[in-house]
Amino acid sequence: MSSLNELMRTNGTCRDYTTDPVSDAVLAQVLDAARWGPTGGNRQPVRFVAVRDRKKKETLRDLYLPIWAPYYKAAREGAVRVGAGNSILANADRFAHAMADIPVLLVVCARLGDVHPTDNKLGRLSIVGGASVYPAVQNLLLAAHEIGLGTALTTLLCEQEPAVKALLEIPEDISTAAMVTIGWPVKPFPKKLTRVPLSKMAFVDSYGAALPGADEVS
Ligand SMILES: Cc1cc2nc3c(=O)[nH]c(=O)nc-3n(C[C@H](O)[C@H](O)[C@H](O)COP(=O)(O)O)c2cc1C
Repeated sequence: MSSLNELMRTNGTCRDYTTDPVSDAVLAQVLDAARWGPTGGNRQPVRFVAVRDRKKKETLRDLYLPIWAPYYKAAREGAVRVGAGNSILANADRFAHAMADIPVLLVVCARLGDVHPTDNKLGRLSIVGGASVYPAVQNLLLAAHEIGLGTALTTLLCEQEPAVKALLEIPEDISTAAMVTIGWPVKPFPKKLTRVPLSKMAFVDSYGAALPGADEVS
């Protein structure tokens, strides 16, 4: 198996970080990998604000917690479906409260004028706009993993977009798309992530029709 394949299969969400600093050079290296992701029309809408300032990180945590708390409660009570047990949710709760201690809180932004959502007239939630943003994010998650950095991709903070934009002086025409935490992990990367088997999510010719070979891969 290629090292890239191995990195993809073991890049678990990191919930616990050491206080070791992430150098400017290392951060630049990870963000540089991000910009090679594809974007519609090569319009490249993605922007990043890496938050290192302690006071600003505390403000981001304080904005995150009131969104996280009811989500956590609903997830524990089964009112929100999550593919995670109580111990994983508890890890996410610890992570939420310790957020200001993580070396870098990376706010991922996008210039919406540069995305072309081809599905926004279908009378349902648009998903295509994000397709010009998240390939860059996945690139950075993998680049971070390659050098041993832990990351967590989060989106709850986007509910607080006006306050986040004010805090970070993000221009009017730029929106928030995610917040990625970056730091050195306390624990080793997981050996195997929990994902649905290929046979349950990939089909051939018709939705639901078995993909040959899907049961043979692990
Ligand atoms: C689109 C998206 C949004 C997410 N938002 C949050 C979030 O706001 N807070 C959080 O703690 N984790 C968030 N996560 C992390 C997921 O909970 C995590 O990826 C999932 O539990 C699987 O964990 P694993 O990758 O370690 O297997 C998000 C992940 C994705 C892909």
